[in-house]
Amino acid sequence: MTTHATPAVLAVPGASPRLTARLQDGLGQVDALLREVVDHDDPFIAGASAHLVEAGGKRFRPLLTLLAAEVGEGINEQVVRAAAGVELTHLASLYHDDVMDEASVRRGVVSVNRAYDNSTAILVGDLLFGKASELVAGLGAEAVLIQAQAFVRLCSGQIRDDRPCPEGVDPVDYYLDVLADKTGVLISTAGRYGTMFSGASPQTVEILRGYGEKVGIAFQLADDLIDVSSDAEEMGKEPGTDLREGVDTLVVLRAKQIADPSVPADARLLELLGSDLSDDDDGLAEALSLLRSHRAFTLATEETEGVAREAQALLDPLPDSDAKAALRSLALSVVQRTG
Ligand code: IPE
Ligand code: IPE
Ligand code: MG
Ligand code: MG
Ligand code: MG
Repeated sequence: MTTHATPAVLAVPGASPRLTARLQDGLGQVDALLREVVDHDDPFIAGASAHLVEAGGKRFRPLLTLLAAEVGEGINEQVVRAAAGVELTHLASLYHDDVMDEASVRRGVVSVNRAYDNSTAILVGDLLFGKASELVAGLGAEAVLIQAQAFVRLCSGQIRDDRPCPEGVDPVDYYLDVLADKTGVLISTAGRYGTMFSGASPQTVEILRGYGEKVGIAFQLADDLIDVSSDAEEMGKEPGTDLREGVDTLVVLRAKQIADPSVPADARLLELLGSDLSDDDDGLAEALSLLRSHRAFTLATEETEGVAREAQALLDPLPDSDAKAALRSLALSVVQRTG
C-alpha cells in the first residue's frame, strides 16, 4: 500500500500557478516545522511521534490555514506556525481515534495502536497535543484560547460519536452536531488562524471561521461516504470501519429511514444494519455493497454536496481574488474526493 503524502485534494483545483507555488512553499515550511517539533531525545518517543507525520496525510488543515492567509496579506512565519499547530492537534486526535475505532491502518501504514499498543498511542497522542499547544503558545493568548476551546469541542464530539443517540433526539441532528464538534471546529480554526495571522479584517476572519466549520462538516460527511465506497488503497485506511464499530453515519441513517422491508435487498440490508458486524467480515462486505447501490447513498451524497455549496456561499461577501476562487473549488473538491 502506498503512503498518502500528496493526494489530489492538495492540488487545489482553480488555484493559479503563482498561488499554487506559494502554497507548496508554505506547506514545505509547515512540514519542516512539524518534523522538528515531533523530534525527541528518547528514540522510542521520537519514533512513535514521527510515525504518522512521516506517513504523510493530506495536510488539508494546514493547507486551509495557508490559503486563508492568502485572503489576507499572505503567508508569513506566524501563519506557518499556526498551520503546524492545527495539523499537530489533528494528528494527536488521530492517535486517539485509532484506539477508539480499533483501527489497524492509517495514512497507508500500520496505525500506532497496532504498530505499538493502545497505551503508547494514547500517551504519544497526549504528548503531541502538548507539542501543538507549545507551538500555538508562541502566537499569543488568543490563539491558545481558540485552540483550547477547539480541543474541548473536538473531544466532546469524539465522546458523543462513541455514544448512542439519546432518546427523543433526532438521530440525523445528533449525527450532524457530532460532526461539527469532532471535525468542523478544527477545520474552522484552520481558516480562522490563517486570516487572523495575515492581517485580515475581523469580518474576513469571521467569514473564514464560518466557511471552515461548514467545510469541516462536509469533509467529515465525505469521509463517512468514503468509508462505504472507497477501497483501502484509495483511503489509506480500512473501509467499513464505521459499520464495524456500529457508528451510524448519514447513509445508514437515511437507509434506515427509506428502506422498504418488502423489497428483499432492503430487508437484507436492514437485517445486516441491525446486527453486530464487528466480527462478521462477510456480513460487513455485503452491507457495504448493498449500501453503495442504495438510493440512500445518492441522497447522502447530495446532502454532502449541499453543505459544500453552503460553505461556498459564505465566501460571497469577499472581494474576488485567486484565493477566493481556490477556496470555492476547495469546498467542492473536499466532497468529490475518493480518499
Ligand atoms: C481524518 O482526517 C479524520 C477526519 C476528521 C475525517 P483526514 O482525512 O484529514 O486525515 P489525513 O490527515 O489526511 O490522514
Ligand atoms: C474521526 O472520524 C474524527 C477525528 C479524528 C476527530 P473518523 O473516525 O471517521 O476518522 P477516520 O476515518 O478514522 O480518519
Ligand atoms: Mg476513525
Ligand atoms: Mg472515529
Ligand atoms: Mg472515517
